[in-house]
Amino acid sequence: MRVEPFLVEKWLNKYEHDVEINISETCVDPFTLGEFLTLMGREDFLRDFWDTKLTYGYIPGSPRLRNGLSNLYDALGPENILVTGGAIGANFLVFYSLVERGDTVISVFPTYQQLYSVARSFGANVKLLKLRMEDSWLPDMGKLADMIESNTKLIVINNPNNPTGSLMDEECLFTICEMAEDVGAYVLDDESYRDLYVNPKDSVPSVVEISDRAIASGSLSKTFSLTGLRLGWIAAEDSVIRECEDHRDYTTISNGMIDDALATLAVENVDLVLERNLSILRTNYCILSDWVDEEPLIEWIPPVAGTVAFLRHKLDISSEELCKRLMREKDVLLVPGSCFEMEEFLRIGFGNNTEVLKEGLCRFKDFLGQYS
Ligand SMILES: Cc1ncc(COP(=O)(O)O)c(C=O)c1O
Repeated sequence: MRVEPFLVEKWLNKYEHDVEINISETCVDPFTLGEFLTLMGREDFLRDFWDTKLTYGYIPGSPRLRNGLSNLYDALGPENILVTGGAIGANFLVFYSLVERGDTVISVFPTYQQLYSVARSFGANVKLLKLRMEDSWLPDMGKLADMIESNTKLIVINNPNNPTGSLMDEECLFTICEMAEDVGAYVLDDESYRDLYVNPKDSVPSVVEISDRAIASGSLSKTFSLTGLRLGWIAAEDSVIRECEDHRDYTTISNGMIDDALATLAVENVDLVLERNLSILRTNYCILSDWVDEEPLIEWIPPVAGTVAFLRHKLDISSEELCKRLMREKDVLLVPGSCFEMEEFLRIGFGNNTEVLKEGLCRFKDFLGQYS
């Protein structure tokens, strides 16, 4: 089956391991195992597994993990959660389970490419709801209404959004869910960056707290800084979970038992993890915001949530050429807007290690100095 190359993954796979300063990352500074277990007060964690047989474990995720994940939502139970191989596994499973040839799927754009390319490869008619910088990267509801057809199967959103850092508010989510309900469609919201608000006053519900037709995908990679566990989940009402379970049997069997137990620890101590991560995120946001304010060749809509920002550059070269020169001359990695089919833009991550961000911005400033 044909599928378009996943541009951002190709870019990162090619460059991220050899570069000295990586400021393209989307995770909040991933934990080392030692830092995580110390924060949890569970340095003895691995002892518990000494006599445990490393079998398949629970197929849909352990009851404790599913229970912990369901507690992240109002009014969901463990039966509404299915654990997957990352949010990428969760999204894929939703498309695999629900989308058929000829269905209409509407997706916001720009976003994580998986959210529209997979549906296309399954033969769906994918329509892109283009977000514009002039609208603070928020969707135009009139345009969305015009795009919806009677055979619309799925409206795909990504809140908070990668790569722009925009955040739809509750009213906007409510309207999208209502539009979906009117034609019997589902809403899939990739909520990988949930709870990562730059400003503590901003907070939006999950779509699954708004509508029965809504499905959320979640991730242990970003908000929880446990990227290496490769775990994510689907949250949805029972019949969607059953459909996804039936399809998942053919792709996954189960996730790793040790990963499941570590994820359970994190989810049951979400407040401790968030305290660490929001402190990193907000410190880094201020550093990046001050930098952008002083940089004449860069402009942006400040991100509201998540770990990434979409910077518009004013150089007379393509975003890819800019990123390649920056790598060659300063050993710093960004993601070019071309990976999101949006020239003139660059994606920067501000969730990672603060010293790395500072060094990257310092080198990027030197680099831009040649052009000002
Ligand atoms: C919006 C979005 N969804 C999904 C993923 C994949 O996340 P995971 O590591 O949980 O598979 C990413 C990773 O960058 C992402 O940005």
